[in-house]
Formats: sequence, C-alpha cells, structure tokens
Amino acid sequence: MEFLHRSFVLTLFLLSLSTLTARSYTFFSPVDNCLIDCGSTLDSTADNRLFISDSSRFKSHWLSSTRSVSLKSNNPFDVSPRIYQTARVFTKPSGYEFEIRDKGTHMVRLHFHNLSSSKFDFNDAQFHVLVNGFVVLSDFIGGNLDGPKVMEYLIWVETGRLVITFVPTCKSKFAFVNAIEVISAPKDLIVDTAQYVSSEKIEQFDGLVEQALEVVYRVNVGGPKVTPFNDTLWRTWVPDNDFLKSSFGSKRVYFSGRIRYQVGGASREVGPDNVYNTARVIKSTNASIPDVNITWVFPVKGGFKYLVRLHFCDIASISIALLYFNVYVNGNLAYKDLDLSGVTNYELAAPFYADYVVDGDSSGVLTVSVGPSNMSYAYGIDGILNAVEIMKLNNSMGSLVGDLPAEFILKSWPRGNIHVLVPLIVAVCLLAILSLVMRRRMTGLKDSVMWSKLPTDVSNVNVKSGSPQP
Ligand SMILES: *[C@@H]1O[C@H](CO)[C@@H](O)[C@H](O)[C@H]1NC(C)=O
Ligand SMILES: *[C@@H]1O[C@H](CO)[C@@H](O)[C@H](O)[C@H]1NC(C)=O
Ligand SMILES: *[C@@H]1O[C@H](CO)[C@@H](O)[C@H](O)[C@H]1NC(C)=O
Ligand SMILES: *[C@@H]1O[C@H](CO)[C@@H](O)[C@H](O)[C@H]1NC(C)=O
Ligand SMILES: *[C@@H]1O[C@H](CO)[C@@H](O)[C@H](O)[C@H]1NC(C)=O
Ligand SMILES: *[C@@H]1O[C@H](CO)[C@@H](O)[C@H](O)[C@H]1NC(C)=O
Repeated sequence: MEFLHRSFVLTLFLLSLSTLTARSYTFFSPVDNCLIDCGSTLDSTADNRLFISDSSRFKSHWLSSTRSVSLKSNNPFDVSPRIYQTARVFTKPSGYEFEIRDKGTHMVRLHFHNLSSSKFDFNDAQFHVLVNGFVVLSDFIGGNLDGPKVMEYLIWVETGRLVITFVPTCKSKFAFVNAIEVISAPKDLIVDTAQYVSSEKIEQFDGLVEQALEVVYRVNVGGPKVTPFNDTLWRTWVPDNDFLKSSFGSKRVYFSGRIRYQVGGASREVGPDNVYNTARVIKSTNASIPDVNITWVFPVKGGFKYLVRLHFCDIASISIALLYFNVYVNGNLAYKDLDLSGVTNYELAAPFYADYVVDGDSSGVLTVSVGPSNMSYAYGIDGILNAVEIMKLNNSMGSLVGDLPAEFILKSWPRGNIHVLVPLIVAVCLLAILSLVMRRRMTGLKDSVMWSKLPTDVSNVNVKSGSPQP
C-alpha cells in the first residue's frame, strides 16, 4: 500500500515535471554544478539556487579550526543575502578541491564580502588566489570592499580536478571567501579561435579555450541589468550607460517578439533572450546616412590581452538585408560591412556574436564602436549592438594580475607550511537535472552534492610554467 502510494506520487511528480519541461525552455544542465556557501553551517538559497554549506555535514572530519575558521557576521542588521553573511577564513595556504567530471571550460565564481566580526579585522584580509595553477587574484584586499564582489573566471579543466588555493600575503594577514561556484560551461560558450585585431594586422588567434579568462565587463547594451535569476548561466549583465562615450546619434531599442536562435549561431546560453531583445542603434530617418559612430569605452589594465565578444541581433530593421555597418575595436576596423542577415540564415531577430582578441595598451582603455559603412542604407538602421563581454587573458606568467607566477607565490610561504597537509575540501558534484529543470519554479530543492575527505598537499598544486621577471 505504502509502495503503491509512493509510486503514485512519483508518477504525478514526473508528469508535472514533464509538462513543466515542455512548457519551458530546456534549461542547460551542467554536469559539474557546485555551489558552496563557505563558513556556513546551513545551506542557503540565493537567486533560487541552493548553496551547500562547506562544513555542516563533515565538520568533525575535517576543516581543522586551527587552519581554517568559519565566520558569521555579527551585525544583526546585515540585510545582505545569506551567502554573504558567513565566510571561511584561512590563515595559511589552504583551499578547496573540486572533483570534475566534465572535461572542458568551467565557470568559477568567487564571492567576497567584508564581514563585521569580532574575531578578525577585515582590514588584515590580504591574499592571493590560485585556480589550477593560474594566479587569478594577487594582493587582494578584503577591507576595501563596500559591497559583495563577485569575480568570475573561465578555466579549462583537463584533468579530473579543479583546485582553488587561498594564500595569505604573509603570516599577519589572512584570506577569506564567502561563496564559490564551479559550473561546467556549455561546449559552445568559448570557442578556440578568434580574430586578433591590432593597428598593424588582423590574424587568427588560436588556443583560446586553454587560456584562463577573467570576465571584466559584461554589458547589456540599451537594456536593464540582467541578474543571475534571469540568465541561462547565472551571469550578471549590467546596463551600458557608464561605458557609453556619448549618446549622441544613437537610440535604444526594445523588442518584445521572440528571439530566433539559429543552429550554429549564438545559443541561448551564449546570450539569453533578455540580453538580445534590447540594443542601441544608429538610425537614419531621412535620405542621408548619419555620420556618427556609437562608441563604448572600457577602462582596462595594460599589458594583457583581452577577448572582446560582441553580440548582435537585428531586432530593429523592418526587413532582412537592409542593415550593413562597420565594427571597430580599439579604433581598428574589425568587421567591414557586417550584414547580420547574411550571417544568421536570413532571419531577423537571430543572434550572432563575434570574438576579437586585442591588446590592452598603455592608454588604459579599450574601445568598441559601431558605425555606418559604405553599404549602409538611408531610411533605416545603420549600426547596432546588443551586448559586449570583455575578458582578460592570462599573461605568459600564467597570471591574470601581474608578474608573479603561482610557483613564486607558494614559495613565499616557509617550506614547513607548504608541506603540511592543508585542509582541502573535495566536492563531488553530481548531475542535478531535476533541480535545474525546476530551478526557476521551486526553491529549496537540493542539488545532489556529495562531499568527501581528501587531504592534499599544496605543493601538489599544478603550477603553470613561468618564472618571475628578472
Ligand atoms: C570592512 O570591515 C572592517 C572591519 O572588519 C572595517 O574596519 C572596514 O571599514 C570595512 N570596510 C568597508 C569598506 O566597509
Ligand atoms: C527577471 O526578468 C523579469 C522580466 O524580464 C523582471 O520583471 C524581473 O524583475 C527579473 N527578476 C530578477 C530577479 O532580476
Ligand atoms: C536628416 O536628419 C538629421 C537628423 O535626424 C538632420 O541632422 C539632417 O540635416 C537631415 N538631412 C537632410 C538631408 O534632411
Ligand atoms: C568611426 O570610428 C572609426 C574608427 O575609430 C573612424 O575611423 C571613423 O572616422 C569614425 N566615424 C565617425 C563618423 O566618427
Ligand atoms: C568607403 O568607400 C571609400 C571610397 O570608395 C573608401 O575610400 C573607404 O575606405 C571606404 N570605407 C570603408 C570603411 O570601407
Ligand atoms: C596563458 O597560459 C597558458 C598556459 O600556461 C599559456 O600557454 C598561454 O600562452 C598564456 N597566455 C598568454 C596570452 O600568454
């Protein structure tokens, strides 16, 4: 009887699940999907996603309190999301190890938030962070944060594990982290080849997937902020106002119809509907084509290469084959006479993106412009851009911040400390299709995440080749 009842409930559940799936888009379900609420004894939910506590279940086994401390905000008026009210603090090089089942690009997000605590003065939080041997943060100072900060990286994982190591800059400083996300990216998110554009030449740039990338800007042009709740890969897209050089000659457009994703074009994971359904355009209302560009300016650090991904979707023309325009990156012509109809199978509202690699030069800015081309038509749209993403590539030292390679950072700690077994948490993250399908409809459904013990020596951390500058 009991059994019958259960299977009846199960059938009902599966039925409702399949109708949900049929009605909604098929959501991307990452093979690896680890969301960790660091320093918390309870799991918590943020944007309808469950972050698993890194200590509750196996506390007694592991995370010895002498090396790592879990911290809770002692501010009773803290209204920040729950994942920001706790942190794990490291006073020696330590970290987390994730078991990876899906070889390929992974999205790694690190969440940091200044806590008010009686035990630690966050003005003493100063540390480096390594991800699989790449230096992703160096001399990061926690006390300066005046709000939650999320760092996002795209890291290629060849072997079965991803290791995130936190290294305090010296013995009197400490490292911390509030939450971590490690998610396998869809296979089409980062492709291996882009166009390298400089004032001298345009040539093919290969090997993009094996670079460590840091997402520096992700901008929804002409539209509102898009939050992780509304994005297919839980990203944040900010409005373009702060980057627009001048709004002169441009117009924002909004499209309420359906975005027509094409096989082979940008997928819904590359950019969601609510990013493609807004844009900024140059429009000609009479017989003359306006002599203007729309230009966006992004402050960047010199000495690094950047991947610039430009998203286009013709949501503004009245018919196909009427929109031709030029695209410039750093003032160099990157795409001449771009014909969005031609590249999207002659469909309107079909998304397309183009990837460029450029050098961040001493000017300290990276610019993106679109403007009319010699083939532009009057009485129509003469330039459009829907979104921009700018990602920094690691340098030859294997770093996203400076000239110190990972090897050097680890050696800065006395050998005795490096060779002790540091507490590392292993997260075996299992496929959680169910919770993904349901993620926007139900809260509190748990991902199947399994934790196990595996002490690892920090000196085992795979270090990218490279040595300090002489
Ligand atoms: C961060 O917290 C510390 C105390 O831990 C405090 O002294 C500092 O002013 C805070 N910083 C900001 C920007 O709020
Ligand atoms: C999600 O998007 C919808 C419409 O696009 C908007 O009304 C809603 O406020 C968004 N939710 C969040 C949490 O951003
Ligand atoms: C076309 O319109 C623009 C402003 O929309 C104006 O500046 C320009 O003078 C007009 N050109 C002609 C030929 O009327
Ligand atoms: C648009 O930008 C390109 C590249 O910087 C430049 O060559 C062109 O003259 C600009 N056009 C206008 C109208 O400013
Ligand atoms: C537009 O055409 C003129 C003359 O044919 C040419 O000199 C110029 O380089 C062209 N501009 C672009 C951006 O293709
Ligand atoms: C980034 O690191 C990889 C692996 O260490 C290296 O092959 C590549 O050349 C680096 N990228 C750049 C732009 O130097």
